[in-house]
Amino acid sequence: MEHNKIILVTIISFMFLFQNIQGWGTDGHAITCKIAQSRLSDTAAAAVKKLLPDYAQNDLSSVCSWADRVKFYLKWSSALHFADTPPKLCTFQYDRDCKDLNGVKDRCVVGAINNYTTQLLDYGKDTKYNLTQALLFLSHFMGDVHQPLHTGFTTDKGGNLIDVHWFTRKQNLHHVWDANIIETAEERFYDTNIDKYISAIQENITKTWSDEVAGWEACSSNKTTCPDIYASEGIKAACQWAYKDAPEDSVLEDDYFLSRLPIVSLRLAEGGVRLAATLNRIFQ
Ligand SMILES: *[C@@H]1O[C@H](CO)[C@@H](O)[C@H](O)[C@H]1NC(C)=O
Ligand SMILES: *[C@@H]1O[C@H](CO)[C@@H](O)[C@H](O)[C@H]1NC(C)=O
Ligand SMILES: *[C@@H]1O[C@H](CO)[C@@H](O)[C@H](O)[C@H]1NC(C)=O
Ligand SMILES: *[C@@H]1O[C@H](CO)[C@@H](O)[C@H](O)[C@H]1NC(C)=O
Ligand SMILES: [Zn+2]
Repeated sequence: MEHNKIILVTIISFMFLFQNIQGWGTDGHAITCKIAQSRLSDTAAAAVKKLLPDYAQNDLSSVCSWADRVKFYLKWSSALHFADTPPKLCTFQYDRDCKDLNGVKDRCVVGAINNYTTQLLDYGKDTKYNLTQALLFLSHFMGDVHQPLHTGFTTDKGGNLIDVHWFTRKQNLHHVWDANIIETAEERFYDTNIDKYISAIQENITKTWSDEVAGWEACSSNKTTCPDIYASEGIKAACQWAYKDAPEDSVLEDDYFLSRLPIVSLRLAEGGVRLAATLNRIFQ
C-alpha cells in the first residue's frame, strides 16, 4: 500500500474504534437537533442563533455531537452522557441512580440536563458559565437520555459489554442502538439520506403522534424540563425492547431490526420535541 492509503486506513480504523463509545451516533444527534430547531419559538430561535458558535452557521444539528468530541479531554463530562441503573430493575430513581462511578451525586445525564437548563435560565444576565457550551451540552444530552441504552444497566455498561452480530457484522448492543438501527433504516428506506428520515419523523409528529405531542412536551409542576421522566421511559424501553431477545452472542437481523425501528424513531421524535419545548421554556 502506498503511504497515503495507509494513513487513510489508520484514520478510518480509529473512527470505527471511537464510534463504539459515542451516544446516539452523529446521525441520531443530528436528527434530534434538527427536529428541535424547526420547532423553536422566535425568541428561542434568536437566542440559539446568538449562542451558537459562528462556524455552526445557525445550524444546531451541526454541533449536536460536540459533547462527544470533547469528552476525551473534558474528562469530567464523560459521566454525564448516561444514567445506568442496577440490573433488571427497569426503573430510574434519581437518588439511587444519578451518580458517577465514584458515587458523586448528580453526575449523570439527568443531573446534567437540569444543570445546563439552570445555567441557560441566566441568559442575558451576568453568569460565570459559558452558555454556548451549556446549549451544546443540553442539546446533546437531551438526545442521549432518549437513547434507551443510555439508561441501561450498570453491569453491562448500557449494553456496551454485550457482544452481538448486527446481521453479519460483529457489534456490541449499545452501538446497535446508537447507530446501526438508524443507519440500516436510512440505507433501506430513505436512500441513505438523513433528511428523508427526518422528514418522515416530522410527518409522523404532525400525524401519527399528533395526539401525544402535548404530553411529551408537558412537565409536571411547571418545571422547565423533566429528564426524570425521559430516563424512566428510557430504562423501560431498554428492558422491553433493547435487551429483550438480544443476549450475548445473538445474531440480530430483520426480526429485531423491524420491530425496534419504530421505538428508535419514536425516541428521536420525543427527544427533538422535548429539546424544543425545553428551549422554548428557557428563552421566553
Ligand atoms: C454543571 O456544569 C458545569 C459547567 O460545565 C460543570 O463543571 C459541572 O460538572 C456540571 N455538573 C453536572 C452535574 O452536570
Ligand atoms: C465558550 O465555549 C465555546 C465552545 O467551546 C468556545 O468556542 C468559546 O470561546 C467559549 N467562550 C468563552 C467566552 O470562553
Ligand atoms: C410513521 O407512521 C407510520 C404509520 O404509523 C409508520 O408506518 C411509519 O413507519 C412511521 N415512520 C416513522 C419514521 O416514524
Ligand atoms: C403552573 O403555572 C400556572 C400559571 O403560572 C398556574 O396557574 C398553575 O397552578 C401551575 N401549576 C402547577 C402544578 O404548579
Ligand atoms: Zn453522548
